[in-house]
Amino acid sequence: MSFLTRRRSIDTIADFEPGTRLTPTLSWPHLIALGVGAIVGTGIYTLIGVGAAKAGPAVMLSFLIAGGVCVFAALAYAELATMIPASGSAYTYSYAALGEGLAWIIGWSLILEYSLVVSAVAVGWSGYFSGFLDSLGWGLPAYLTNGPFGTDTPGLVNLPAVGIVGVVAGLLILGMRESATLNAALVAVKVLALAAFVAIAAPHFDPANLSPFMPFGFGKSETVVDGETVSVGVMAAAAIIFFAFYGFDAVSTAAEETKNPGRDLTIGIVGSMAVCMLIYLLVAAAAVGAMPFDQFASSGEPLAYIARTLGSDLAGTLIAGAAIVALPTVLLAFMYGQSRIFFVMARDGMLPRRLAAVSEKRGTPVLMTAVTAVLMAMIAGLFSLGELAALANAGTLAAFVAVGASLIVLRVQQPARPRPFRAPAWALVGAGCIAGCLYLFVSLPVSTQVNFFIWNGLGLVLYFAFARRNTRLARGEEQPA
Ligand code: ALA
Repeated sequence: MSFLTRRRSIDTIADFEPGTRLTPTLSWPHLIALGVGAIVGTGIYTLIGVGAAKAGPAVMLSFLIAGGVCVFAALAYAELATMIPASGSAYTYSYAALGEGLAWIIGWSLILEYSLVVSAVAVGWSGYFSGFLDSLGWGLPAYLTNGPFGTDTPGLVNLPAVGIVGVVAGLLILGMRESATLNAALVAVKVLALAAFVAIAAPHFDPANLSPFMPFGFGKSETVVDGETVSVGVMAAAAIIFFAFYGFDAVSTAAEETKNPGRDLTIGIVGSMAVCMLIYLLVAAAAVGAMPFDQFASSGEPLAYIARTLGSDLAGTLIAGAAIVALPTVLLAFMYGQSRIFFVMARDGMLPRRLAAVSEKRGTPVLMTAVTAVLMAMIAGLFSLGELAALANAGTLAAFVAVGASLIVLRVQQPARPRPFRAPAWALVGAGCIAGCLYLFVSLPVSTQVNFFIWNGLGLVLYFAFARRNTRLARGEEQPA
């Protein structure tokens, strides 16, 4: 068997740490809260503006399309997560279904996803934080709230974004665990603020704001504005808005702690997606119906801006306050997820094992968290939200394609293996997930696609230089499937 196609056996993966099974305490309401906590973030609070700039009022359709693709992915995820209850998500499933070469590419793409989500959410948070400081009369100078790259208003560094990455990394290094109670409270804050937004914006609905509905067409097209190439159209917006929907994969990491995984994980993963889809469609319709889209599209805090303009200063400040308090949970979830991906890849021998070493004193991977946090903070300080979200999406789309493919391959190769949850119409779900994600991928800006391939080219160099000879399978520490 070629090294690229050697696969891990599901039995070995699921058996990895005998005797360390966590106590099952969670059931589906906890999992929905966990999912909504990781999903609702910068996507709906800020990227709705970036999306509206690309699609006009038809950004509502972009939400529907991106959400629809994620429903397929969520079903595929639910089947694989209940069948292979081990951490590592798409990377682990690919290792079992598609072989080591593709698993490496997916793991490497997940690193891109998790790191850049952290940077992107930090930039989104900074928009709300800066607006909040402005409203108190303590505004920072513009050159300290924008990075130099990819924005109409270049500055020196996005200082609040750097700061929040540092704070969240510090909490993780000190050993902060996700607290279910705190998470539930912050989820309530985020969702109530969105409900308040809809209540403020909906009465201002004016059909004139929806016309023309699709000013930039449906398919992606690239145009040059002020010397910069920008991609527009409903699909170009959907490829960015996709950012708003993921995070449901975080639910799968709770597999071991779930009382009735077959039922609870499925309701948790698919349910949190469905809840968010409903909330997002209401928020998007309320936003584009209440105000001409070009008025709020370039705001760094579009929902607070609309609430302030149509409601009152207080309403805007409260919505901004909710975003400031609650968005860091998304940072925490993804920064923690990042350390899990590194940990699992290092445990499999794909990365140097020292990288994932856990500090004895703190019980957390201190070195790795600190190094990645410095990189994420630098990226957050320098680049714009749209660029970061687009590249994070490219990595996530690659992972979702692999999840759709793994679903199909395992159904064909191991039809008899127990599946606590079986995706309905699996062939359609798998194919729909792959096709939908590929369509979103080609709808990303060309520059993003190029950067994604450069990242994976670099990854392949590392694979051939290091991982190929050092994985557990390569060293004979484990028998391939
Ligand atoms: N879905 C998450 C967000 O929108 C990544 O912030």
